[in-house]
Amino acid sequence: MKLGVNIDHIATLRNARGGFEPSIIEAAKIALKEDILALTMHLREDRRHIKDNDLYDVKKLGAKINLEMAATKEIQKIALDIVPYSVCIVPERRQEITTEGGLDVYSQKEYLKEFIKPLKEKGILVSMFIDPDIKQVEASSYIGADYIEMHTGSFSNAFEKGEYKDELEKLKVAAKHAQNLGLKVNAGHGLNYDNVYLMKEIDGLCELNIGHSIISKAVFVGLSSAIKQMLELIK
Ligand code: PXP
Repeated sequence: MKLGVNIDHIATLRNARGGFEPSIIEAAKIALKEDILALTMHLREDRRHIKDNDLYDVKKLGAKINLEMAATKEIQKIALDIVPYSVCIVPERRQEITTEGGLDVYSQKEYLKEFIKPLKEKGILVSMFIDPDIKQVEASSYIGADYIEMHTGSFSNAFEKGEYKDELEKLKVAAKHAQNLGLKVNAGHGLNYDNVYLMKEIDGLCELNIGHSIISKAVFVGLSSAIKQMLELIK
């Protein structure tokens, strides 16, 4: 199981004051020294954390970028210019604090099928951020995605209440179904140092994308140590 480190909240902190600190480039350089698969960055429509230049700067470092993006023409144009290692198509609502639910691939499958074509033609791996729902898994397969990323928010909330078994089971069933259809499976959202060990119970998970908990720990122990501790838990 590989780790994608989401560095959006380095930008959140930087943007709190305007200016340049803490530096995304410095964060990216530190993270890239660790045994991670990619740096995950979400270029939101409102640019509330990552800005366009951040993507270009991190790309210049030679980093593998997993670009989280809404399925809009504006962001697609930027993705086609940057050519990240992978894109993860996410739903986006302006008022939300974070990505609150999975993408409804099923109800917009014809649009998404066309939308991802130019990305795939550029050799970019395409992932769909979905709830662990069979209908959404099948729609992701239908449109030709390479990966699904299962939204682990409900699992993480349930873990806090000590009642996670049903949510974990949903993840296991959805992952198996996706793999049977030839999709590769990632997971992310709300994963932290306490609950992440349970992801090892899901067979064949490729990658975990984790941001908030790593950046939060980094405030106290430093980014490199925070990433190392997470890597230790998922190996
Ligand atoms: N994966 C996706 C698709 C996301 O949108 C997010 C949140 O930006 C994450 C993973 C990481 O979630 P968290 O910050 O809770 O670790």
